[in-house]
Amino acid sequence: MSAGLDKGAGANAAGTGTGSGSGCVDPILSTVGISMVFGGLVALNSVDLSIERGSITALIGPNGSGKTTFFNCVTGIYKPTRGEVILYPALDLPSKSLKGLPADVITHEGLARTFQNIRLFNNLTVLENVLIGRHTRMRAGLWGALTRNRKTRAEEAAAIERSYGLLVTYGLDAMANELAKNLPYGAQRRLEIVRALATEPKVLLLDEPAAGLNIAETAALRDLISDIRENEKVSILLIEHDMNLVMKVSKKIYVFDYGRLIAQGPPDEIQKDPKVIKAYLGED
Ligand SMILES: Nc1ncnc2c1ncn2[C@@H]1O[C@H](COP(=O)(O)OP(=O)(O)OP(=O)(O)O)[C@@H](O)[C@H]1O
Ligand SMILES: [Mg+2]
Repeated sequence: MSAGLDKGAGANAAGTGTGSGSGCVDPILSTVGISMVFGGLVALNSVDLSIERGSITALIGPNGSGKTTFFNCVTGIYKPTRGEVILYPALDLPSKSLKGLPADVITHEGLARTFQNIRLFNNLTVLENVLIGRHTRMRAGLWGALTRNRKTRAEEAAAIERSYGLLVTYGLDAMANELAKNLPYGAQRRLEIVRALATEPKVLLLDEPAAGLNIAETAALRDLISDIRENEKVSILLIEHDMNLVMKVSKKIYVFDYGRLIAQGPPDEIQKDPKVIKAYLGED
C-alpha cells in the first residue's frame, strides 16, 4: 500500500453543475479525490471516478486494490477520510453531495448495491425479500403501519404488485414463495440484484455478481445486466473479476491497484494497457 495520501482534488466539487471528474460528459455520479485510510493502510488514494448517465461502467483491479472499499465509501457504509461523492440526479436538477450521509439516506437518494457475499433474508420468501427493497419508496409512517388505514393498504398492494412484476420481468416469479435460502446459488445472486432494483435506484452498484457462478449462469447474468440497463433507466457500476463479462458489457472501465486509479478507458484500450497487465500479472 502507498505510504501516504496524495493531495485530493477535494472538497469544492458539489454544486458545480455537470461535467465534473474524469472527462465524463454527463455523469450521474462522480467522486472527487476520495481517500480512505484504515489505521496506517491507505485503502483508497484520491480516486476521481465518474459514471456516465445510463451506462454500464466497470471497476476492476487485483484482490485488495480497494474496489469494495470504494463502494462502501460511496454508499455511506464508510465515511471517506477525504474527498467528495456527488450525485447529479438529472440534467436540470442541482447536484448533491452524498459524502457523510447515512447509508439509508443514500439509498433513498437513488444508490442501490449488492454485496460480494450474498446478503439476503434467508428465512423470508423471494417476494418478501424484494418487498423489503421496495419499502424504501413507501410513504406510510408509523401511524399508517399501526392503523393499517386504507391509504396504507393501497400502498402495500401496489408494493406487492410492483415487486411481483420485477420477479416476472427478471425470471424469478416461479420461485416467489420459496424461502431465499432454498434457491439455487445463481438465483440467489439474481434475487439480490432484483431486490436492489426494487428501491428504484438511479445508480446500481454490483460487487462481483458473477462470483461463484458457472459459465451458463454467468452468461445469463450478462443478459440480466444488459436488460436492466435498458428496462430500468439505471446507470450501473460493476465490480467484477470475470474479464470476459466486463469486456462485453462495459462502456468504460476503471482500474485500481493498491488503492489508486491506474487506468481508465474503453475495454479495447484497457485490455492492452501495459499498466493494467502489470498490475494483474506482477513484475516478471
Ligand atoms: N474495515 C477495514 N479495516 C481495515 N482494513 C480494511 C477494511 N476494509 C478493507 N480493508 C483493507 O483495504 C484494502 C482494500 O480492500 P477491499 O476489500 O476494498 O479490496 P477489493 O479490491 O474489494 O478486493 P477483492 O477483489 O478481494 O474483493 C485491503 O487491504 C483490505 O484488507
Ligand atoms: Mg471486494
